[in-house]
Amino acid sequence: MSDKKRVLSCIQPTGDMHFGNYFGAVKNWVELQATYECMYGVVDYHAMTMPFNPIKLRENTWELIFNLMAVGIEPQNLFIQSLVPEHTELCWIFNCFASYGQLSRMTQFKDKSATSAEGEDGFISAGLFDYPVLQAADICVYRADYVPVGKDQEQHLELARNIVQRFNNQVGKEYLIMPEPLYTEFTKITSTADPSRKMSKSAGEKHYISLFSDSDKIRKQVRSAVTDTGENTGGEMSPGVKNLFELLKACEKIETYTALKADYDAGNLKYAPLKEAVAEALVEISEAVRSKRAELNTRKEVKEEIKASSAQIRERAQHTLRNVKELSGLLNVKY
Ligand code: TYM
Repeated sequence: MSDKKRVLSCIQPTGDMHFGNYFGAVKNWVELQATYECMYGVVDYHAMTMPFNPIKLRENTWELIFNLMAVGIEPQNLFIQSLVPEHTELCWIFNCFASYGQLSRMTQFKDKSATSAEGEDGFISAGLFDYPVLQAADICVYRADYVPVGKDQEQHLELARNIVQRFNNQVGKEYLIMPEPLYTEFTKITSTADPSRKMSKSAGEKHYISLFSDSDKIRKQVRSAVTDTGENTGGEMSPGVKNLFELLKACEKIETYTALKADYDAGNLKYAPLKEAVAEALVEISEAVRSKRAELNTRKEVKEEIKASSAQIRERAQHTLRNVKELSGLLNVKY
């Protein structure tokens, strides 16, 4: 086993990967592979916490695997959560170390349960409530040191840290590793249609720009981005304009960023050229990953590779779970 520090992060197969996922987390995942031992999961159990369609769930899971490979994640670092049942077994144990009060205060639960409550039957699953505990199990089952995520996951990471502390105290041994979040500079990319909310799939189609969209759709979405209603006077930026500048920086178009920012500060920036620059920068990234994605279609063995990498990654999870059960006074099955 390697003595490199371990990195773990996950993404839900709930539809297209968007630029918020990419700049907030996934781009960083790619870079971390050079330094750390990395494991990246497609968390299909988490995707069941909101209303879902079984056929779509499986399709989305594979689509996301291909998309992650297209952006540069190595297949041996990828796994599918439901192929590693130790996640859900550890989740049960962790349920007994998580406080009901803390779970009730999770803003993601409050937001998503409000959306579910507005749905046809108003159904809110207990899985949605328990979601952060499964997330803690995802992290701890690999004894990960670092967790690269967007800032929206801060509360969930705090819960994971609390569970680790409570578990270690209870069993009288510092067995579980205290996970540290790793944030990028672009921790909150907002929706271009409504800059007061984060870019997100669950808010609806106009609230995210897919990384794999066709170029015209990206251009159209950026062109219709909300900026501000008044004149640009060089004063405080509106959230929509700030988000466009952030996107430009995230695309590493620093010269354009600096030039347009100087125009903004001088009070004479027209928003059309800013939108144009952002749209073209996003299209450039999208075209590159789409062409990689198309190449992958010809690689027939991808699904087998991912099943094999999941099995390999599972061995680490089995090892941790055996120790956790031992320390907790539970019995172990022989593998
Ligand atoms: P998910 O699928 O919603 O998002 C995946 C990653 O993208 C980041 N992200 C954003 N970053 C910046 N701006 C945005 N608008 C934006 N939208 C999404 C998220 O922070 C995340 O890093 N709960 C996790 C999935 C998960 C997980 C885990 C993560 C399950 N188990 C264990 C880490 C470790 C989530 O909501 O992913």
